[in-house]
Amino acid sequence: MSPEAYRPLLLKNIHRPDSASLAAYRESGGYRALERALKEMTPEQVIEEVKASGLRGRGGAGFPTGMKWSFMPKGPGEKYLVLNADESEPGTFKDRLLMERDPHLVLEGFLIGCYAVGCRHGYIYIRGEFVYPYRILMKAIEEARAAGFIGKNLFGSGYDCEITVYRGAGAYICGEETALLESLEGKRGMPRLKPPFPAQVGLYGKPTSVNNVETVANVPMIVEMGSSWYAAIGRPKNSGPKLYCLSGHVRKPGVYEFPLGVPLKELIYEHGGGMLRDLPLKAVIPGGSSVPILTADKVDVLMDFDSLAAAGTMLGSAGVIVMDDSVCIVDALLNLARFYAHESCGQCTPCREGTGWYVQILERLERGEGKSSDLDLLVDLSDRIQGNTICPLGDAVAMPVRSYVKTFRDEFQYHVDNKRCLAKPSPVLV
Ligand SMILES: Cc1cc2nc3c(=O)[nH]c(=O)nc-3n(C[C@H](O)[C@H](O)[C@H](O)COP(=O)(O)O)c2cc1C
Ligand code: SF4
Repeated sequence: MSPEAYRPLLLKNIHRPDSASLAAYRESGGYRALERALKEMTPEQVIEEVKASGLRGRGGAGFPTGMKWSFMPKGPGEKYLVLNADESEPGTFKDRLLMERDPHLVLEGFLIGCYAVGCRHGYIYIRGEFVYPYRILMKAIEEARAAGFIGKNLFGSGYDCEITVYRGAGAYICGEETALLESLEGKRGMPRLKPPFPAQVGLYGKPTSVNNVETVANVPMIVEMGSSWYAAIGRPKNSGPKLYCLSGHVRKPGVYEFPLGVPLKELIYEHGGGMLRDLPLKAVIPGGSSVPILTADKVDVLMDFDSLAAAGTMLGSAGVIVMDDSVCIVDALLNLARFYAHESCGQCTPCREGTGWYVQILERLERGEGKSSDLDLLVDLSDRIQGNTICPLGDAVAMPVRSYVKTFRDEFQYHVDNKRCLAKPSPVLV
């Protein structure tokens, strides 16, 4: 698909210099969907429409959004919608763009979501380092409140909704939904054991739904254009537009919008302008740091949830990290392991201890002091971590470690046998 063949839907406003203003958003039809939802649809109808659209959450797991909302209890009683604006996955920088350039799109989608689940006070949990997006979001909230889109009796419908923004302190684990809720309650951001799931016991013990920023940004167009129109974009069971974050050794890194299922090869070589230094492609991480890696011969794959799962990896947060053959895979994995060891909250022994062991073993391999048995040890550790932890952070490191070692075993072995790196010219490993 040529870039001209697709007209962005999520990013359609971002190139306007005043794109963050309410005036610009209104000019492009903004808040019509909220008005329509409040005046013409029941909350159940909104949920049904989102279900029929096939929208799957854009925060990583790809869980169907309408279904998640339908798990919330009906009827009176406090309940919450929480917006996950923590965006912490390495290689992922799409939610920030939406908040900076089109905050009203995010707010409108969030407010429709609040209405759908019966929430009268929504919370936005934003990454602490996002000072600039935070300011823009706050300004947009002020504007929306002054215009009567937040607060009491929205559009004369009788529906009231307040929004509170809460700033995190920059911990990756606080992106995990239950750790986020703990943090929002003022406690240390440690994941909760599930069940109970947040739809039963969530924020302040009340039923809660947590959604990603990009997820809710899809909702206004579903309400306005209808679920059939939306479902026709992308691929079956993988519908709608998608933001892909492209980084690493490509000429034109950035956030790209295409329907779910854009070919990965096309993303790198056409839209991304190809390899940065014309060096051969070595590997690609398609979904942010926590997913299994793809070798150059495996990049003929469609970028959607199911195609990538069939290829043995995941779409995750669609943080596509491209590596040319100057990259030392052992070094890349060490970098990743250090991140997870630092970010482990420490609750579960396999994750707390295992991530530290990964670092020690990989440092040893990098120093040229590794043993052949270290390779099996890394895989064995992964088998012991995966599935044995409270939250998916354990899996998020175990899966890449296993895949890097299995896929690039020769390169790991080369470090052991030659006490030097295959990819880097220097014979001395630091
Ligand atoms: C360690 C970890 C970090 C996560 N970080 C984020 C994040 O930064 N942003 C996000 O939206 N979801 C993140 N998630 C996923 C959330 O737990 C949750 O699934 C998501 O916010 C649900 O939104 P969605 O259904 O709209 O995708 C993370 C999950 C894990 C396990
Ligand atoms: S898996 Fe890691 S991050 Fe998740 S709860 Fe256990 S120790 Fe904490």
